Amino acid sequence: MIKTYTNTIIKSFAVLGLLTIAACSSSDNKAVSDRKVAFNTGWQFHLNTPTDNDTITTTTQWRALNLPHDWSIEGAFDEKSPAGYGGGSLTGGLGWYKKTFTVKAEDSTKITSVVFDGVYRNSQVWINGHYLGKRPNGYIGFRYNLTPYLNYGDKQNEIIVKADNSKQPNSRWYSGSGIYRNVWMETTGKVHVAAEGTYITTPVVANGKATIKLQTILKNEYAAEKAATITTTIFKGDSKVTEVSKEVKLSANAEQTLQQEATIDNPVLWDIEHPELYTAVTEVKADDEVLDTYATPFGIRTFTFDLNKGFILNGKQVKIKGVCLHHDLGPLGSAFNTRAMERELQIMKDMGVNGIRTSHNPPAPELLDLCDKMGFIVMDEAYDMWKQQKTPFDYSNDWDKWHVTDLKDQLFRDRNHPSVFMWSIGNEIPEQWNEQGAAIGKELSAIVKSIDPTRPVTAAMNPPIAVNPTEANIQFVNTADKPNALAASGALDIIGYNYAHQTYAKHKINFPKTAFIATETTSALATRGYYDAKSDTVKMWPKRWDIPFHDGNPGNTVSAYDQIQAPWGSTHEATWKVIKKHDYLAGMFVWTGFDYIGEPTPYEWPSVSSYFGIVDLAGFPKDVYYMYQSEWTTKDVLHILPHWNWKTGQDVDVWAYYNNADEVELYLNGKSLGKKSKQGDDLHIMWRVPYQPGTLKAISRKNGKTVLEKEVKTAGAPAALKATADRAKITADGADLSYITVDITDANGVFAATANNEITFSLKGNGKIVGVCSGDPVSHESYKGNKHTALSGKCLVIVQAGDKADNLELTASAAGLKKATVSITTSK
Ligand code: GAL
Repeated sequence: MIKTYTNTIIKSFAVLGLLTIAACSSSDNKAVSDRKVAFNTGWQFHLNTPTDNDTITTTTQWRALNLPHDWSIEGAFDEKSPAGYGGGSLTGGLGWYKKTFTVKAEDSTKITSVVFDGVYRNSQVWINGHYLGKRPNGYIGFRYNLTPYLNYGDKQNEIIVKADNSKQPNSRWYSGSGIYRNVWMETTGKVHVAAEGTYITTPVVANGKATIKLQTILKNEYAAEKAATITTTIFKGDSKVTEVSKEVKLSANAEQTLQQEATIDNPVLWDIEHPELYTAVTEVKADDEVLDTYATPFGIRTFTFDLNKGFILNGKQVKIKGVCLHHDLGPLGSAFNTRAMERELQIMKDMGVNGIRTSHNPPAPELLDLCDKMGFIVMDEAYDMWKQQKTPFDYSNDWDKWHVTDLKDQLFRDRNHPSVFMWSIGNEIPEQWNEQGAAIGKELSAIVKSIDPTRPVTAAMNPPIAVNPTEANIQFVNTADKPNALAASGALDIIGYNYAHQTYAKHKINFPKTAFIATETTSALATRGYYDAKSDTVKMWPKRWDIPFHDGNPGNTVSAYDQIQAPWGSTHEATWKVIKKHDYLAGMFVWTGFDYIGEPTPYEWPSVSSYFGIVDLAGFPKDVYYMYQSEWTTKDVLHILPHWNWKTGQDVDVWAYYNNADEVELYLNGKSLGKKSKQGDDLHIMWRVPYQPGTLKAISRKNGKTVLEKEVKTAGAPAALKATADRAKITADGADLSYITVDITDANGVFAATANNEITFSLKGNGKIVGVCSGDPVSHESYKGNKHTALSGKCLVIVQAGDKADNLELTASAAGLKKATVSITTSK
């Protein structure tokens, strides 16, 4: 009972500002430029045992691995894990990494730095016995200048990294542990562009011209003044567009900021359909030598958040159809992999998503690169808490010392990305209700404006103004009929709403001078492929919020008809209907695009991962994916649910999502069950059908002509496996991935939608299995094993290429079923 209430309590206290309770490895080996080279391979790792101390370990028990790496995902699920249900019942701990390496003798005249994109958390780094520093924040990148301590030539260097994620809980979701993002070695001459030292803005885009402002922070690390020539060349693809050059005098051991300006004729604008990019390449020359070359990709676009028209991109109104994403990559844990991230984004893009919220922390830098290239509108978020904690050992303990540095580093790192359109300074910050929250909000907003005045600041508030209790499912604690302190403070350029869709229609009355964004919405719940056959019998899951989980559905399953929601949220349809209706509502970010590890709302073992995703943890769409696809894309969509394996005579609700058609006709075994079409603001249609086995078929028609046909068939006993790779050709770089979907079928090849056989995987060739997953939130099987129980007929296996070209063969087998094999070619 208590457990069922936990999240409510957390939320209520958070709202009051009183929260005091606890509540694959891969190696990207490409050099991004000569300046920055991946430093991911050849590391050694040791996870402390309870008897190890926490000083530099003298253990001899090291394991070889490549980064990025997440040690928590390798462990077992444990109901008593101190990380709690929020942390996915996996375990933290304290880990050590070390690597020995040499540095070329000729680099001894240069500056060499190590760059970490993120270490969870409390990292400390040593080089050749010298302590370099500590970084508590697990999500921000950081760097150390190694130059004074390096050995050059044949002599070895040793770098040691300690990551301390032992104090738990420190997160409301699964964080992962260790060096889970890329590491780089960066080498420049002694006069160079500073770290994240460029800032490219396009203040004027008009009359066929774009003005490009190039701000470059230069660093002279010589003990003498230096004359240097700074040339910035702008490229579109391989073609040079324009070039600007300037001579500068740089004082000894000093930094200087240089301003340059260029004009581009007939600029090709960046937008979500055509994410056109330019690259500015800055070359630093001194003593007739090129000492540094620094590339900054950027895009040219104009935008505004308009009080009446919402989000305007390049003069055109664009509704933001966004999703929130946590940083884990399902079965890979939080170990970053570019292909895994790209796949997530492709699955979202195919659904019609055009916006990503990096909830609730700075993302891996590659996520923003991908969003630049694929065309997403990103809300880049900084914090899940400020001074007041949400869990006992979270970042609030580091706030005073680190929040300015961390925020500045995020801004410097991310401000050139054309995909970034707004900064969120926090999510559901407990202080939002009091004057301290207003003061901190102003402080953070001022920091943002000092580093990037080109983008608006928002915060995800829960909610910015009271929800009328009679309209809401939950009594938000803010019952005062006025904005919360943060929303009223003037610190925010956009009012960010978490949930509270009941208040959106009154936004212009409540906040007449500030634009709108729904920073987080919905929190509806579903288990892929599981249905309570009469969809109107369960309105909320559990049926009532105050009834424990297991009084809801057996096995902690949640019906996938879009009718089950967290009390503070809504069905998917309900919030989208409001956002769709009013132009001034710029858009929304649904909680969440993908399921994530941890936060299995309500908190209840054996559930270990969330139910909020539109797509499950394996990347398989739940049904509501097609509701969004029918609304958010222009492609023809027809999708029917549920599966067709029921008890004869039982009433089953059949739903259809469709678009681009006037009507849908449903047939059971060839007999029409009638035509239906959406009325008013309907987003789906429904037939209640007395079940008979056979074939259920839907046909959508426009002007009497068939647009699409869809069938679901009754499956017989499971008899065979079918394996399909998302990509049969991948790169032999030790990092690239092929995602293989294994379906269970009956003897006739009909998809067995209720089968849950255990599947075993084996791989031949130079590659490895790095993840297995069915998307089942109650599965405690390891994502890192080679067998897994299917959920609703499906299971996923992820194969990673080795570093030698090869033909790989993946075999999936299950007792009593015909096995399946799939070939994957890896090449250099
Ligand atoms: C929100 C919160 C998210 C997640 C979600 C679950 O209030 O911002 O991080 O906890 O609730 O519904």
